[in-house]
Amino acid sequence: MDSNTNNIAVEFKNVKKYFIKKHSLFSKSTLKAVDDVSFSIKKGEVMAVVGESGCGKSTLAKMLCKIHKPTSGEIYVNDLNISSNMNKKQILNFRKEAQMIFQDPFGSLNPAHEINYIVGRSIKIHNPHLSKTEILNKVIDLFNIVGLTPANDFIGKHPNQLSGGQRQRIVIARALAVEPLIIVADEPTSMLDVSIGIEIMNLMIKLKEEKNLTYMYITHNLASARYVADKMVVMYAGNAVEQGYCDDIIVKPLHPYTILLLASTPEPFRKEKLQIKASEDLPDLTSPMNFCPFALRCPKSSERCEKQKPKNYKVGNREVKCFLYENATSEDEINIDISIYK
Ligand SMILES: Nc1ncnc2c1ncn2[C@@H]1O[C@H](COP(=O)(O)OP(=O)(O)O)[C@@H](O)[C@H]1O
Ligand SMILES: [Mg+2]
Repeated sequence: MDSNTNNIAVEFKNVKKYFIKKHSLFSKSTLKAVDDVSFSIKKGEVMAVVGESGCGKSTLAKMLCKIHKPTSGEIYVNDLNISSNMNKKQILNFRKEAQMIFQDPFGSLNPAHEINYIVGRSIKIHNPHLSKTEILNKVIDLFNIVGLTPANDFIGKHPNQLSGGQRQRIVIARALAVEPLIIVADEPTSMLDVSIGIEIMNLMIKLKEEKNLTYMYITHNLASARYVADKMVVMYAGNAVEQGYCDDIIVKPLHPYTILLLASTPEPFRKEKLQIKASEDLPDLTSPMNFCPFALRCPKSSERCEKQKPKNYKVGNREVKCFLYENATSEDEINIDISIYK
């Protein structure tokens, strides 16, 4: 996790994002949306950020795209500390490096413009010297790359003439237009039909392989994380509770929360689906929470878990934020039986 190693595309270092919630003129509280999160993404790697709604995934994405500024900690993109103050020119240069694909392909394209204009404008902003014909040729190339074929049939169309999946392809083409360092995809398939969603995931995988792209892929679904990503960070209540290679985590989840999340993931990973408890069981993010955020739901929790916050413990290739792994030397030493959640 060294920010100077140049094969690292992105590094979050002890990043916190606290929001101030005003209740009335005289009362306010602090909501810890992201609380001391560290991880890094290598160039050409897909990192999934996984967890239930409200655990801080989008806040991480927005900080990486400089929409939110961290309350503390640092975010490096290609060795540049983007959480520090940057001048306008630096910000403009940086905007190209991290491109965001949102959940809602309907809301992220301006309905007033033709899709070739939408994609062409991104090309033009970053390549002002190109002629109109050169830009149109690049747009056609991008339409082909994202599978909008025959490309000529799509020239002149408006977003409302496209299906949800086709719109998400345009959003991806617009992101690719500026040749970014990282694509931040925030639940890009969650508003699409399952089969269309799988097509979009396949497109993302194909682009990663052909163009050696780096992604931060946000999802609430462990199965789709494994399908798309190399590594994952499992988030719970603003904390990164487990991180490592997807295959390792899916085959043998270590943190009790990851075990619960996997147990509630439907086939093909488990025969029976367990229900994750309703979100009212999530801890109050405005409480001081100087203990394990999962302690109140965890069948393995001890008195210590309710009094003290665990660190990230290294277990083989993984990091796990749980006292159970404080002295673990290999992943095989601790075995949690999944039936604890039944
Ligand atoms: N701009 C904001 N102001 C106040 N609270 C926010 C803001 N954005 C997110 N939150 C809160 O931060 C927590 C994490 O939100 P978010 O990152 O959107 O979660 P996720 O994407 O995992 O569903 C939630 O409790 C949410 O209500
Ligand atoms: Mg979100």
